[in-house]
Amino acid sequence: NQTIATEESPLPIPPLLKDRNPDPNKAVFQLTAQNATKEFVPGKKTETMGYNGDYLGPVIRVRKGEEVSVKVKNNLDDITTIHWHGLEVDGDKDGGPHSGIQPGESWTPKFKIEQPAATLWYHPHPEQETGRQVYKGLAGLFLIEDEVSDRMDIPKEYGVNDVPLIIQDKRFNSDGTFQYDLGMHDVMNGLQGDTMLVNGAVNPFFEVPRGMMRLRLLNGSNASVYELNFSNNQTFYQIASGGGFLGKPVKMNKIVLGPAERAEILVDFSDLEKGETVQLENNGSEFMKFTAKSESPKEYTIPTKLTTIDKINPDDAVKTRKFVFQGMGPMVNINGKQFDMDRIDEKLRMNDTEIWEISNESGMGMMDGTVHPFHAHGVQFQILDRDGNPPPANETGWKDTVLVNPDEKVRVIATFKHSGVFMYHCHILEHEDAGMMGQFKVG
Ligand code: C2O
Ligand code: CU
Ligand code: CU
Repeated sequence: NQTIATEESPLPIPPLLKDRNPDPNKAVFQLTAQNATKEFVPGKKTETMGYNGDYLGPVIRVRKGEEVSVKVKNNLDDITTIHWHGLEVDGDKDGGPHSGIQPGESWTPKFKIEQPAATLWYHPHPEQETGRQVYKGLAGLFLIEDEVSDRMDIPKEYGVNDVPLIIQDKRFNSDGTFQYDLGMHDVMNGLQGDTMLVNGAVNPFFEVPRGMMRLRLLNGSNASVYELNFSNNQTFYQIASGGGFLGKPVKMNKIVLGPAERAEILVDFSDLEKGETVQLENNGSEFMKFTAKSESPKEYTIPTKLTTIDKINPDDAVKTRKFVFQGMGPMVNINGKQFDMDRIDEKLRMNDTEIWEISNESGMGMMDGTVHPFHAHGVQFQILDRDGNPPPANETGWKDTVLVNPDEKVRVIATFKHSGVFMYHCHILEHEDAGMMGQFKVG
């Protein structure tokens, strides 16, 4: 395999999916999962998968309170599912491995949006095949807006100053095809590529106004943790974590984003000279550039307050459950068990508040143990502490995925308001596919 060096190209902006229902309180969407081919390297084609297109999928944008239905057609040759990552819906709408869609069939879940404005995403979740299907291109953004996001004075013009960046890394064969043959290192750590893609493009550029930009970041990789910063080291503000807006903006000049994690950031490019370029870097390597071209049509300031997050009181928790991440490579497991479709691992009561304590013991105290991003379906949680210490400011909001470092213990708290069967798992997709996943049943 080789790092792909290619000409820079404009950043593709995933289109907003058209709502097929004129009623403002109801939305009807249509997605088709399909096989395709695409040239990431000019003149060299690879097989891909996409929703309604050749790679990734359109952006579904809905409002809190809306009734949504999505018809998902499977035009692939394999079984697939579609999971709404971060969405609080009942288990039969969630799109986990139990909701398989056979080739040629479709599935039309209907649900009501009952959670605050957030940047969520969707991706397939078939048993043992999630890694391959996501790698081939099946993923898209799912945005929720509400009264709070309506009122907030931040950039909102989609594709202009409110721009999604789906960041992924891939490994290519020398003929320009995707490489998804898992070697020993991939089985241990998940597939970590050497070529970065943003919205499906290698080495893209984006022309920004000389002013405030809102970037919606999604780490859409199979297994890599990103450490992102700008080449001029400029500061920016995180305004949202995976489940929605933070209480207030958090100033930073570097952001860590694990697989499946999202963050919204505000970056002020008004100090750039006209025509000046700034690079976005991961671990010090540049992978996309922003060039300041036009004047900003409007001036923004960083809001002092964003939203009110009602802290869940740990005294309200009726139970503490422990989840111990253990084993390496093909042996990865949670609490000594590997995934079994026919086994419910945890039974919860509807509307209960619980503390979940997640420990990463898979490195067995070794220096180079693996980080595991813990994710639970159908619920947003709050982080109580990491090894007994309060979480950093940018982790004080709602989250559905949290990095658990080697030998670390993270406690999260949640109220389970939706019934059905849900997954919890490591979001390194090769770990998930190897069995680092369990099921909980609510109600
Ligand atoms: Cu991103 Cu089980 O999901
Ligand atoms: Cu999920
Ligand atoms: Cu893992």
